[in-house]
Amino acid sequence: MDNTTQRIDAAAADRSDPLRGFRERFHLPEGVIYLDGNSLGALPESVRQRVLNTIDKEWGVDLIRSWNTADWVHLPQRVGACIARIIGAEEGAVVAADSTSINLFKVLSAALDLNPGRSKIVSERENFPTDLYIAEGVAKQIGKGHRLVLSDSPEDIPGLLDEDVAVLMLTHVNYRTGYRYDMAALTRAAHDKGILVIWDLAHSAGAMPVDLSGAEADFAIGCGYKYLNGGPGAPAFLYVNPRHHGGFRQPLSGWFGHRAPFDFDSAYTPSNKIEQYLCGTPPVLAMVAMDEAMAIWDDVDMAALRAKSIALCDLFIQEIDSFAERLGLRLVTPREPELRGSQVSYSCENGYAIMQALIARGVIGDFRAPDIIRFGFTPLYLSFAEVEKAAAILKDILETSAWDAPEFHVRGAVT
Ligand SMILES: Cc1ncc(COP(=O)(O)O)c(C=O)c1O
Repeated sequence: MDNTTQRIDAAAADRSDPLRGFRERFHLPEGVIYLDGNSLGALPESVRQRVLNTIDKEWGVDLIRSWNTADWVHLPQRVGACIARIIGAEEGAVVAADSTSINLFKVLSAALDLNPGRSKIVSERENFPTDLYIAEGVAKQIGKGHRLVLSDSPEDIPGLLDEDVAVLMLTHVNYRTGYRYDMAALTRAAHDKGILVIWDLAHSAGAMPVDLSGAEADFAIGCGYKYLNGGPGAPAFLYVNPRHHGGFRQPLSGWFGHRAPFDFDSAYTPSNKIEQYLCGTPPVLAMVAMDEAMAIWDDVDMAALRAKSIALCDLFIQEIDSFAERLGLRLVTPREPELRGSQVSYSCENGYAIMQALIARGVIGDFRAPDIIRFGFTPLYLSFAEVEKAAAILKDILETSAWDAPEFHVRGAVT
């Protein structure tokens, strides 16, 4: 697609947007253009009431009976089933639990156990750091000499896949650049060499259609608090292809992964279903928020979501193209829609201060060290007019050097 010739008219795009009705289902403060739903999704309106009801009635009045009467005990499976529908997973193949980091520990340990006699875990140097840290930790923990082999560019991955690789572990959409791997093709290439594949869907789930089953992926993990709008620190999810259920063990053998937790057996007998990947008691308040947030997805046409995501990103790139070079911005996200997720990133000098100046003007994105300003586009609650306005504000901040005020150089703990 030639982005320079197909100009997007923001007003016309908003008028014909089939998803425009979803915005009113989110609580968004006045005067904010929220381009950070890839980091923390906005608050769905119905979540507040649902969580209050859980606190006041289920916890406050029904007390411990709510594990059964409100079915708290099955929240991980219920939320997992909703997530399964938007990531193309089979029924009973997804649970919500723990954090993405912990879930990676569980599935990577299990995958290495399933593929013995091989010594390498392949990933990319630019993967999200927690994925690499967990892989290092798992290799150390197992103590069988596994080593991490990291590619320096996405094109190099196929060349690293050989008969000594046990697991290919990639993030589908890169958190910094927004580059998107071809899940089906890479999974196939890995399987041809007997390699198991783990996909981190942190920046894909809820941002685009995903087809884990079609790709025959082995495992997947991802965050609940980004495009799924589950709230700060929301439970994460994990997927295990049904062909691996019951075939091996994950190492965090807590009682919720037992075949019959309420038998209170002193010996651990793992569930032979996805439940084996649960560990301990689910955080009910967070799970309830996540459960409510997932209700929105029943009504979302994922093809329309992807089409709008591409158009929002195209519009932002188109607007910024007119001043990027002159004002020191370098696009690091692929222009080709099929090679990117739902974010647009630029590298630039003084990125941290520029982002702080944007936030002060109501345009919320984020900064990723050392030099990336990152903008996420969530089709359920963003308009084309807002995207156009955000680009104009960025231009103004750069042209006037408004970012150079001392307060914008003060670093917070979270960037
Ligand atoms: C690709 C990816 N994986 C994992 C995480 C974080 O995992 P956790 O929720 O365990 O902090 C992030 C956070 O932004 C991420 O971008």
